[in-house]
Amino acid sequence: MITLGIETSCDETGIALYSDKAGLVAHRLHSQAATHARYGGVVPELASRDHIRRVLPLVEDCLAEAGLRPADIDGVAYTRGPGLAGALLVGAAVAESLGWALERPVLGVHHMEAHLLAPMLEADPPDFPFVALLVSGGHTLLVEVTGLGRYRILGESLDDAAGEAFDKTAKLLGLPYPGGPQLEALAGGGEAGSLRFPRPMTDRPGFDFSFSGLKTAVLNAVRDADPPIPRETVARAFQDAVVETFAIKVRRALQATGAGHLVVAGGVGANQALRGRLRSVAAAEGAAVAFPRLAFCTDNGAMIAYAGHCRLAAGERSGDGADVRPRWPLDELRPPAAAD
Ligand code: KG4
Ligand code: ZN
Repeated sequence: MITLGIETSCDETGIALYSDKAGLVAHRLHSQAATHARYGGVVPELASRDHIRRVLPLVEDCLAEAGLRPADIDGVAYTRGPGLAGALLVGAAVAESLGWALERPVLGVHHMEAHLLAPMLEADPPDFPFVALLVSGGHTLLVEVTGLGRYRILGESLDDAAGEAFDKTAKLLGLPYPGGPQLEALAGGGEAGSLRFPRPMTDRPGFDFSFSGLKTAVLNAVRDADPPIPRETVARAFQDAVVETFAIKVRRALQATGAGHLVVAGGVGANQALRGRLRSVAAAEGAAVAFPRLAFCTDNGAMIAYAGHCRLAAGERSGDGADVRPRWPLDELRPPAAAD
């Protein structure tokens, strides 16, 4: 069975083909970062228009790479949400049209479910149950995962998402959009320990996060310091605070659930300082840790093809018509439901 995956939830057009026999057989990505950089953030209308231009050529590229024809596609999966409504509609409309033309089933998948399943595409996939730390531009979730569609949210951010905090702090430091990777690079040259920001909400029980106060602490440090603090020191102190906050909550979640595996996914999961710290937390708790490869931490088509494959193979299908859910809580999901 070959599943085509289409990701258009934000500013990346991601297309992939997943085979139940051969695994991932092709994937392509077009990043719109350069389109949005001059505006300092994603412009939804520009994102939708660019997805329209990119989706079908990327599908053709993937088919050519895999040596397949359109008729070889057995099912089509697209990102149904959460994300930007117009951008999501592009993927949904193309998926529905292809499904109709090829007479194949179509399924709209949850973007965050796809992120948390992304490590399954790697050589040493995690076993259920696992604890997943999902850290992206729009979401920060700590989830207990006991099976496909069985998600218990342990904690989430009460304000800014982790990626959003990285992007806003990067902006404060004068770095271009998207700031996360740039801030990581700047932090690499910063001195550890000479500046310390709070680890928000770690002094009380529970698993929730809050990052907006940290952003204000950075703003105050940048504005009020005399003599000025080097930007790389501020970047380093911010990154250390975020990483340590996640380390504390992840340790708690592993202890509370007894899960033997930790999954870290989403764009911020590409951060090497975070990966290194969580590796040692998991090792200390006797848990195995699974990360997607760097390219599949940020948005991509492979994770959509894989998540779609899991549910399509179990018989789940979308109803007729392109359907999107710009807001869609992860814990509304259920295990695959076969169509009658
Ligand atoms: O998962 P993703 O590609 O898109 C969403 O679903 O939101 O995540 C994008 C977020 C952005 O905020 C970006 O700045 C952040 O992930 N990010 C990083 C790194 N790479 C991407 N944050 C910190 N360090 C990185 N290396
Ligand atoms: Zn994402």
